[in-house]
Amino acid sequence: MSNPEPSPQKPLVAGRKIIVVGCGIAGLAFPLALRKQWPEEYIDEFPAITVYERDCREIRPGREGYSISIRGDDVGSGIQTLHKMGLLEQMLLVSITGRSGSEPKGAFTLWDLDWKPLLSISGPPSDKELPATSMRIRRDALRQVMIDALETLLPNGSIQWETKCTKAEPMPSKVKVTVRNNNAEASSDREDECDILIVADGAGSKVRAQLRPEDTLTFRGIVCLAGVSRFTEGEVPKPMDKNWGGVLGAGPVGLFVSPVDTRSALWSLSYRSDQPRERLSAPLSEDQAENLLREALDRAKPFKEPTETLIKATDPATLAVYNAMDKQPFRHEANSKIVFIGDSNHAMSPFAGNGANMALTDAWELALQLSKSVPTSSSLSLDLGPALKAYDEMSIPRSSKAINRSHWSISMLHAAGIKLWAYKLFLALVRPIKG
Ligand SMILES: Cc1cc2nc3c(=O)[nH]c(=O)nc-3n(C[C@H](O)[C@H](O)[C@H](O)COP(=O)(O)OP(=O)(O)OC[C@H]3O[C@@H](n4cnc5c(N)ncnc54)[C@H](O)[C@@H]3O)c2cc1C
Ligand SMILES: *[C@@H]1O[C@H](CO)[C@@H](O)[C@H](O)[C@H]1NC(C)=O
Ligand SMILES: *[C@@H]1O[C@H](CO)[C@@H](O)[C@H](O)[C@H]1NC(C)=O
Repeated sequence: MSNPEPSPQKPLVAGRKIIVVGCGIAGLAFPLALRKQWPEEYIDEFPAITVYERDCREIRPGREGYSISIRGDDVGSGIQTLHKMGLLEQMLLVSITGRSGSEPKGAFTLWDLDWKPLLSISGPPSDKELPATSMRIRRDALRQVMIDALETLLPNGSIQWETKCTKAEPMPSKVKVTVRNNNAEASSDREDECDILIVADGAGSKVRAQLRPEDTLTFRGIVCLAGVSRFTEGEVPKPMDKNWGGVLGAGPVGLFVSPVDTRSALWSLSYRSDQPRERLSAPLSEDQAENLLREALDRAKPFKEPTETLIKATDPATLAVYNAMDKQPFRHEANSKIVFIGDSNHAMSPFAGNGANMALTDAWELALQLSKSVPTSSSLSLDLGPALKAYDEMSIPRSSKAINRSHWSISMLHAAGIKLWAYKLFLALVRPIKG
């Protein structure tokens, strides 16, 4: 009586209510990934999903106007995840690097102080099925594609913008969350309840701080000054008009550059420091912006042109100071109804170049477990234990590896003396530069 294609059993979470806190990369991807993997037979019982997001739908100028790498390697498999979600083609259309196959669109590069490439990776497609092996994309463009898709998927009003979660309380069988509209008084706090809470509120997670107060971020000894520079159309200086990556050889100061679009490029200067520094981001006062710009020009002295040109063209609204912080992932309790995905679980610094990739893949894999898990007993209570265990087994080693690799990148970008020499030798051995 074996049926080659038995119809799937009803998922454990069918008909349940899910709240997602944070509509960043993980929070946007999770409902989309759940819908993509949900058995059509039970579409009427697709969970009711509400998303609470602190920010507004339209990003303020100066925020998220930078670009990020979506990768197709074994650790950061954001390309494969977007492909499975059915969003890769749309993302490539709005990306900086576009589809592979056409004209060369730039590559990840490590330069020496003379802007001579030490290593350049564009790489042949590892998977012939995929239209690209990696892409560089504006973060706000990636976010917008997912917002459009999510608004099509969920009923109106499911995404509550400008509404932050201020508290999450596990109850015997539910989770209670308290939310507040940004423009409202504390007295107008609202409560909402769900069967499962997906926490996706990023590296500085308020929910983690509340439920796991000891699980804090670690400063990795690096402070970054960053900005986005504007030029007239097509006048972005080489090599950051096409290529992105780091400059090695200035000892304790590192430089990362990347194209953002045909009119802009980003720079990030990083330096070693014993202490984290006060974070700054838009809106800055005129004085603050001027001082930061002057500091950046001073710290950038070891780097040759077009570094100065690039920094002088910075749009003051994009200037920022942040610290390289991260934390190792943690495992969920078997009886938990609260799941932390993305940076809220395993924050990583930009030196990982992988946090968005992890957020996408976490969302996909949690959705996979929740859409294929079926009830193990006839009991009405929701047992997420096996699904969470399977999810953790995929997510934890991957994100931990990405974080550990980022420490290596930090060391290389800020190396001096014999250490720098050893890194350069290593790069020469792994990949000779053609031409
Ligand atoms: C300069 C820079 C460069 C980077 N480069 C790369 C790269 O090249 N490749 C890469 O893969 N990654 C990169 N990253 C990392 C990547 O951006 C993050 O790891 C990724 O955004 C994490 O996704 P997330 O969904 O977990 O969190 P986020 O994207 O940070 O989303 C969290 C969301 O939660 C919201 N929120 C916060 N608190 C609350 C609350 N209390 N209630 C409701 N909502 C809340 C926030 O407004 C935000 O929208 C970079 C990061 C930076 C800063
Ligand atoms: C949802 O809102 C949009 C615009 O606000 C409107 O055009 C659309 O008809 C609404 N859909 C439903 C199902 O209410
Ligand atoms: C990463 O480093 C931490 C701390 O050194 C270690 O505990 C962990 O096992 C490492 N992770 C991986 C995947 O190697």
